[in-house]
Amino acid sequence: EKIVLTGIKPTGDLHIGNYVGAIRPAISLIQEPGILPRYFIADYHALTSMQNREELHDRIYQIAAAWLAFGLDPEKVLFYRQSDVPEIFELSWILSCLTSKGLLNRAHAYKAKVDDNLANDRDPDNGVNMGLYNYPVLMAADILMFNTHLVPVGKDQIQHVEIARDIAEHFNKTYGDTFTLPEALVEETTAVIPGLDGRKMSKSYGNVIPLFTDEKKLRKAIFRIKTDSKTPEEPKDPKDSTLFDIYRAFATEAEIADLAKRYEEGIGYGEIKQILFDQVNEKLKEPRKIYTELINDKAQLDTLLKKGGEQAREYAHRFMLEIRNKIGRY
Ligand code: TYM
Repeated sequence: EKIVLTGIKPTGDLHIGNYVGAIRPAISLIQEPGILPRYFIADYHALTSMQNREELHDRIYQIAAAWLAFGLDPEKVLFYRQSDVPEIFELSWILSCLTSKGLLNRAHAYKAKVDDNLANDRDPDNGVNMGLYNYPVLMAADILMFNTHLVPVGKDQIQHVEIARDIAEHFNKTYGDTFTLPEALVEETTAVIPGLDGRKMSKSYGNVIPLFTDEKKLRKAIFRIKTDSKTPEEPKDPKDSTLFDIYRAFATEAEIADLAKRYEEGIGYGEIKQILFDQVNEKLKEPRKIYTELINDKAQLDTLLKKGGEQAREYAHRFMLEIRNKIGRY
């Protein structure tokens, strides 16, 4: 049996990159035999970049409703909120003592911030809180606490999973075999979904196509995707097209081949955008409806999260006794 675990941070609007990079592969794994799924809301990770009481509160419900709208069956999945399992934070401290500072200096989110500060003549640690710096350690605790084998994520999270693996190896060497070594599970075609401007779609770039916006706004967003200035008749290269990259994540092989052919024959960007909108909208229509119902039923979400939180905590508590024992606190 393989334990599959992934988390989503309740910051910013969920976007189609989160869906195809993490939610969709995670949901499809639930059906497979021999898989034990654990999916969670990384609410304390959100604090590194968002410190607003009402927003955090609302966004936790949004992530919960999103998972359920895409078909997460709470009978089959251990589904919980990170902060309902305080043992994770205890483990995070222990792991941080086994993590070299140099490893975290190289972690990409922190490093990107430092590089940006340096490029703009600011103090390198300007705007860096310790939460951002320790982010990968808390993520390692999320993963290692549940003996995870596989972590379905987008490409931007591969480094974090590798750090978790490094930390687990170090712990195992120091205190004896304790943690399963996790591996990232990344789908080739959906590893990096580009955003409106062609860069990686990201909450922090402000270039996202939101997942649960209404039809009109979804269409507007898709029509805002940047293209070059080729005329409709000119042949176009599907390999060099944000529109095509997004389409590929939502279409079948045959549909993809068909659109590629039309690119080469010459098709206007307006028409491609309409095709893309129809395709994406078709896939999001039903989940959007369920999401809207769920987000208005907070009592139901509360009940589910409470139950999942208790189950996750039970597991973590038992494992924590073993970990404490290993380090000499018994
Ligand atoms: P978060 O909330 O930023 O993103 C959630 C998931 O969406 C994926 N993703 C993308 N995939 C493809 N293309 C994109 N443009 C794109 N943008 C985002 C991310 O790779 C991620 O899988 N650190 C995590 C949350 C986390 C976690 C964990 C994940 C905390 N603990 C333990 C796995 C295991 C994060 O920031 O996700």
